[in-house]
Amino acid sequence: MSAAAIGKDLLGLEHLTPEQITLILDTAVPFKEISERAIKKVPTLRGMTIVNLFFEASTRTRISFEFAEKRLSADTVNVAASGSSVSKGETLVDTARNLEAMKIDMVVIRHQGSGAARFLADRIQSNVINAGDGTHEHPTQGLLDLLTLRERFGTLSGVRVCLCGDVLHSRVARSNLWGLQKLGAEVAVCGPRSLLPNAIDELGVRVFSRIEEAIEWAQALNILRLQLERMQAGYIPSLREYNRVFGVTRERLERAPRDIVIMHPGPMNRGVEIDSDVADGPHSVILDQVTNGVAVRMAVLYLLAGGRPELAEAAKG
Ligand code: CP
Repeated sequence: MSAAAIGKDLLGLEHLTPEQITLILDTAVPFKEISERAIKKVPTLRGMTIVNLFFEASTRTRISFEFAEKRLSADTVNVAASGSSVSKGETLVDTARNLEAMKIDMVVIRHQGSGAARFLADRIQSNVINAGDGTHEHPTQGLLDLLTLRERFGTLSGVRVCLCGDVLHSRVARSNLWGLQKLGAEVAVCGPRSLLPNAIDELGVRVFSRIEEAIEWAQALNILRLQLERMQAGYIPSLREYNRVFGVTRERLERAPRDIVIMHPGPMNRGVEIDSDVADGPHSVILDQVTNGVAVRMAVLYLLAGGRPELAEAAKG
């Protein structure tokens, strides 16, 4: 596959080919080693300026992108809605165009509006990376989840993965669904019907209404955060009831016919969708996901900048 093989922007996994997704994952592998070094820096993106435009709260994604950028020697600027002229009513496009006038190369954007990353990408020259837009997609989270699963199973082909919980509000679920299906995994969802999209039956996934059935079937569970801030009243009776019926608990996992890889994109509601025994237990790869996030984001930045996989190998030296 040639240079710039993933295009100008990374807006989602829905429109990437399996080959493009595999290229990103393969490129991330050698980048992992850079974060193990005493001096965690290579000159790959020296001279590039990247703006991290975060209009919504974030711990993992924002810091992970910043580490990825700094480890590739890019110059970075962080812009939050509060403290910028967005709080005075400036539009997204005006903000981005003003940043471009200062000669930037890439924008990483998290925004509460589904489609915000695409809207921006269509209007500015810089590369745009979607760091989560509303309930639409969170492609780098999907990619880091794929990399974590591929490390565990050696392949995604035929691996049975269940996305558990609040699928309706989850951009992570959408990116996972596209990515997993493109790489040949078997995908299921499990949650209360009120938290599954109406069109779920058309997406080619199994649907489990009982968490016990999902645990019996799956080799990996990706447990989604109950997105209380996006919910109007009435999706679930109470958090206690949700945990009682859909919570992933040690007792439930002990009844599984096999060891199950436990994933969660974070932040977790401990004691709601996942119990601490499980989150911190022997089958949890939650912190491996976070580690892989830096490498995946390095790979995305590098490929959007026009890099070739063999140069990623060379960057190791
Ligand atoms: N997984 C994830 O997107 O976490 P943050 O909201 O902390 O970035």
